[in-house]
Amino acid sequence: MYKEDRTFLAIPGPVEIHPKVYEAMNRHTYGHRTSHFKEIYRDSMEKFQSTINTKRDVQIHAGSGSFGLHTAISNLVKSEDHVLNIVNGKFGERMEKITDRFTSNSHTLRTEYGRGTSPNMVKEALELHPDVSIVTITHNETSTGVLNPLEEISEVVHDHGALLIADCITSAGGDEVEMDRWNIDFFISGSQKCYGLPPGLSFISFSSSAEEKMQNVTRNQDYYGDLLQFAKAEIGVTPFTPAVNLIYGLQASLDLILEEGMINRIVRHRKMGRLYRDAMNSLGLDLFAEKDYRSNTVTTTRVPVNTNPNIISQTALDYGIMIAGGQGSLKGNIFRVGHMNLVGPRELLMIVSVIEIALKNAGADISLGDGIRMVQEGLISQ
Ligand SMILES: Cc1ncc(COP(=O)(O)O)c(C=O)c1O
Repeated sequence: MYKEDRTFLAIPGPVEIHPKVYEAMNRHTYGHRTSHFKEIYRDSMEKFQSTINTKRDVQIHAGSGSFGLHTAISNLVKSEDHVLNIVNGKFGERMEKITDRFTSNSHTLRTEYGRGTSPNMVKEALELHPDVSIVTITHNETSTGVLNPLEEISEVVHDHGALLIADCITSAGGDEVEMDRWNIDFFISGSQKCYGLPPGLSFISFSSSAEEKMQNVTRNQDYYGDLLQFAKAEIGVTPFTPAVNLIYGLQASLDLILEEGMINRIVRHRKMGRLYRDAMNSLGLDLFAEKDYRSNTVTTTRVPVNTNPNIISQTALDYGIMIAGGQGSLKGNIFRVGHMNLVGPRELLMIVSVIEIALKNAGADISLGDGIRMVQEGLISQ
């Protein structure tokens, strides 16, 4: 019914993009060494800093989010370093794989898919591996819909005297991330999620302790991803050609974010997340992520019995909405919906009502309207 170019993206990234962002990107490409571009870069960086409350520089790299994951390890980890990877999903596993390429002293705190990682679990893992000097965590595990308690875990990691690398790719810009107050040593995010841009940019920021540690990695073999080389340059003078037009888009998106206000944006994401979860519960479906660890930007729901997961996604697509299935071993068992960036009451009403039709069509034993009524009541009762 709807062609691909009219499909609404309710997957957990890439997301729907505001027309003002496209408009900004569709401008003349200035030379990247002009004062004009440098000013746009500086302005975008400063605006970005306010979304995560940091005074540290934020590097804007051409590369997807995984570039940030890779460079965190390539710049910080020496082959003799002991690293603890906190893993409870596909993206934590990716971090583990990257770590394995740089050190053979890699340890894993693995939690079952769908479960959150508590600060106490981290404390026990660090007691078991006292040599660990670097810990990695996926703040919002997009594959399972789990939000790990980053602030509390950071406290445990720093009590141990280790540095913390945090993948905030699907949390920052939508949910709360406080880089300085939470003591995040290495922050990573990406453009195509809560920051509301097309894919292609990776955002990186690191603490002075992380910078000091990087200086001890005497032979950084990562040329393109040498973050100290990037840090040495004047703001806006990147070692390699930056993604100029994406940075125009970033500036426009950050203007929209700051116009809404970061706090209001967090409140909206949390509310949309809660209403979506309430809708799934009202339909009698089970949420996959453990209670108390549920993400506000992506929700995972178990595919009900006697229900064909492919028909759920296909029907949603027929109605013009793209949702995501499970990854790896979760394929066929869960479906995932992203509620990031522009998702507000209007979009939520549309998503939930289409999902009801999709579930019904796929064989689920639900009553049409139970979920949408929950959303409507939740919206009215505020
Ligand atoms: C939590 C998380 N980490 C890492 C990534 C990888 O980012 P990218 O696909 O931009 O390389 C994703 C992408 O979905 C993600 O959600």
